[in-house]
Amino acid sequence: MSENKYAELIIDGKSYQLPVVEGSEGEKALDISGLRKNTGFITIDPGFFNTGACYSTITFIDGEKGILRYRGIPVEELAEKATFIETAYLLLHGKMPNKPQLQAFSQLLNANSMLHEDMRHFFDGFPRGAHPMHILSTMINALSTFYPNVDLLSLKEDINLSAARLISQVRTLAAFAYKKSIGEPIVYPRHDLSYCANFLNMMFDSPVQPYEVSPEVVKALNLLLILHADHEQNCSTTTVRTVGSAQVNLYATISAGVSALSGPLHGGANQEVIDMLRKIMRSERDVKKFIDRAKDKNSAFRLMGFGHRVYKTYDPRAAIIKKTCHDILSRLKTDDPLLELAMELEAAALQDDYFIERNLYPNVDFYSGIIYRAIGIPENMFTVMFALGRLPGWIAHWQEMLTKDTKICRPRQIYTGHTLRHYEKSS
Ligand code: CMC
Repeated sequence: MSENKYAELIIDGKSYQLPVVEGSEGEKALDISGLRKNTGFITIDPGFFNTGACYSTITFIDGEKGILRYRGIPVEELAEKATFIETAYLLLHGKMPNKPQLQAFSQLLNANSMLHEDMRHFFDGFPRGAHPMHILSTMINALSTFYPNVDLLSLKEDINLSAARLISQVRTLAAFAYKKSIGEPIVYPRHDLSYCANFLNMMFDSPVQPYEVSPEVVKALNLLLILHADHEQNCSTTTVRTVGSAQVNLYATISAGVSALSGPLHGGANQEVIDMLRKIMRSERDVKKFIDRAKDKNSAFRLMGFGHRVYKTYDPRAAIIKKTCHDILSRLKTDDPLLELAMELEAAALQDDYFIERNLYPNVDFYSGIIYRAIGIPENMFTVMFALGRLPGWIAHWQEMLTKDTKICRPRQIYTGHTLRHYEKSS
């Protein structure tokens, strides 16, 4: 960070100096932490378009150039060469694991993959048709009752154990939630399978039809989870940091992150994209009609999987998924008419002035559902897959707060309601 640079702020003729801070990639900010104390003013920035909430060493994004790096490593390299578990280790520890470290991490994940058996009964209480994301956030919250002493203030166990337990058990919870939703017996985790293979086996194995884990499917799943593993201060990560800053239990904190992710403007968009593509297909591929609706200010409809708060160019994650879509589909010997339609829709949007002027490009959610479909993941589990991927990122951010003098997140406001008035008894 640069030192001794200041911006001058003049209020009512009085001058104040605001320190200029600079990140390791040159991003600049004005440090306003003393603003209210010194001037009586606060800043107002609904939606946090211009607000940096923390310093972080985890993930770097350049939204103008379409760059995404975890701990300095380009996501493209990780997508090509790493596994999800290596990437999770990188996010949590700040460096790639060597072989013994990776082995120790895998063993820790295996040793903590089983849920407390009492938790199985919780699944019986959910109504038929409950969305797996809501089941997942409830069940992760329930973990806090089994492991109460895991919070920023009174962490009573090794943080590596808390993190591994969460990463491993959320995968088990997600698969159990799915099995429950289709009325099949649950399948327990196995120590002999890798992280992704284990998840697929818990999802698709059945007493009457054993599941054969395909290396191609495992590879595709690894890729998607890596691409979702972190994305700096997005809505769910900000939720995790906000809730965690009140020294809430880690599991309860992550449950809040899962809830934030479930919204259609955030992780829920991946399911909405497929729904939208199917509707376009049913409308005899009337792409123009849907583009027009997305542009119509009187309609709430948005082109799902398009646009991003930070990226004003092609989302690098979407670029990787699009590039590998055809390849993965052909290696899985499957075809999906929705892929061609998605490409047609993208091409039409990218030629349209509305999308050009607003820098609206496909985001990570636009093509991910095509791969999830190809590897057999049901649509209502798409956002759960996003949560599985994002988990190491959320934990890394929570962990980063452990090592810093974190203040409770508590924004101010500009009050615009009634000024003082008095109680009147109703007549
Ligand atoms: N379709 C049509 N118009 C759009 C879209 C879209 N998908 N996205 C943005 N716009 C328009 C918006 O109406 C606004 O127009 P105007 O300036 O005329 O008012 C302008 O573009 C700027 O949009 P914004 O809502 O101010 O931008 P934001 O940064 O607040 O929103 C977003 C970002 C991702 C919520 C938004 O682009 C969106 O709703 N996209 C569709 C949902 C989606 O795909 N979400 C996944 C996001 S990426 C993964 C993740 O974070 O989970």
